[in-house]
Amino acid sequence: MADGDYGAYNIEDLRQMAKKKLPRGVFEYIDRGAEDEIALRHNREVYRSLKIRNRVLVDVSKRSTTTRIFGREIAMPYGISPTASAGLMSEGGEVGLARAAAQMGVPCTAATNSLTSVEELYEAGDGNIWFQLYMWKDLGLREAFVERIKAVGIETLLVTVDGSVGANREHDRKNGFSMPLKYTPTLIAQVLANPGWCLRVLAPQFLKRGVFKKANYPPELASRLTDKYVDHEHTKSDNQCWDDIKRIRDMWPGNLLVKGLQSWEDAVIAADIGLQGVVLSNHGGRYLDSAPAPIQIIPEVRAAVGDRLKIIVDSGARRGSDIIKALALGADMVMSGRPTLYGSAAAGEAGSYRALEIFQTEMDRVMAQLGLNSVDEIGPHIFWNPPDWAPPSRV
Ligand SMILES: Cc1cc2nc3c(=O)[nH]c(=O)nc-3n(C[C@H](O)[C@H](O)[C@H](O)COP(=O)(O)O)c2cc1C
Repeated sequence: MADGDYGAYNIEDLRQMAKKKLPRGVFEYIDRGAEDEIALRHNREVYRSLKIRNRVLVDVSKRSTTTRIFGREIAMPYGISPTASAGLMSEGGEVGLARAAAQMGVPCTAATNSLTSVEELYEAGDGNIWFQLYMWKDLGLREAFVERIKAVGIETLLVTVDGSVGANREHDRKNGFSMPLKYTPTLIAQVLANPGWCLRVLAPQFLKRGVFKKANYPPELASRLTDKYVDHEHTKSDNQCWDDIKRIRDMWPGNLLVKGLQSWEDAVIAADIGLQGVVLSNHGGRYLDSAPAPIQIIPEVRAAVGDRLKIIVDSGARRGSDIIKALALGADMVMSGRPTLYGSAAAGEAGSYRALEIFQTEMDRVMAQLGLNSVDEIGPHIFWNPPDWAPPSRV
């Protein structure tokens, strides 16, 4: 690969590199979606369908992609979404994500199901780490876990709420891929067919850190990780409701957001119970397959909650122009999970940084083409075909 840019000129280049470097089951676990992958494809189609108009002869020589969120300046209105098991991409891949984000100056969200502990990631990310929480069934363990996250120094907590039951990802089952990882014959065959991954990821992981494990789980649950298919019982229970979020609100003094919303009605509840924000997300097309693309619901959520919440959107952003489109529709910030995973698989920490660099340079270039000097100037006027996704009667 070439120096600096690693031979990757866009996120798709990184995706193609990841495809070559990962065993098939691991690549499909990060890349593919649920059921017929309607949502997965639609997320991209919607971004691509939005056309934005250039403005000429505007002095944009002093433009900047920087902005502020939750009291901190960030290099662009972008953050890394939580992704379980990023450590399968490269040796210490999760640490690499945290470091790349710190280098770029954007937040990285550590996942409950990460293979690296939140304490280690907080240190690697220079404190600029958000945390994604799955609410364990056991209230005592759950509350002790929130206290642990608080003690680490995390300021922003995202509670993921769209996974009350496990996802229907048929390709994972065909590949023999499950979480926690099981050594199925199909997966073993795929791994052996990719000795490069064994040498780059598996062997150093084993020598430096031992077997893969969910590093954030308390001993009570971790000891049960070897049980058959218990994962979803820990993290995805179907009896959770807004009262559970209220309980966390009572004990979490920092920024509290819920992730995985697709309805303005839910966003109104989030605002009413005093949350700071929502992450509109269809989990990158990994859960509800006929879900709308999250950017389609930004206008109706904004109309419903006004400025009471920060609106963050993920699922499908692959270009700097996508960040601009989402902000023009009313979002405060965009996130994504896969691009930095592709980067991590392609070239470790440097590859994750390359993904962030691609987003930032593309955003900067498109801002110039649109005649925009600051993030605050991004608005619906940039659209040639402004979408009509928020009929007032629905809100
Ligand atoms: C491999 C993988 C693992 C993920 N794990 C989690 C997780 O543990 N918790 C969570 O809230 N979201 C998880 N997500 C969803 C991401 O946070 C995010 O919503 C999604 O990646 C957005 O889609 P995009 O990457 O296509 O933009 C995961 C996504 C991927 C691809």
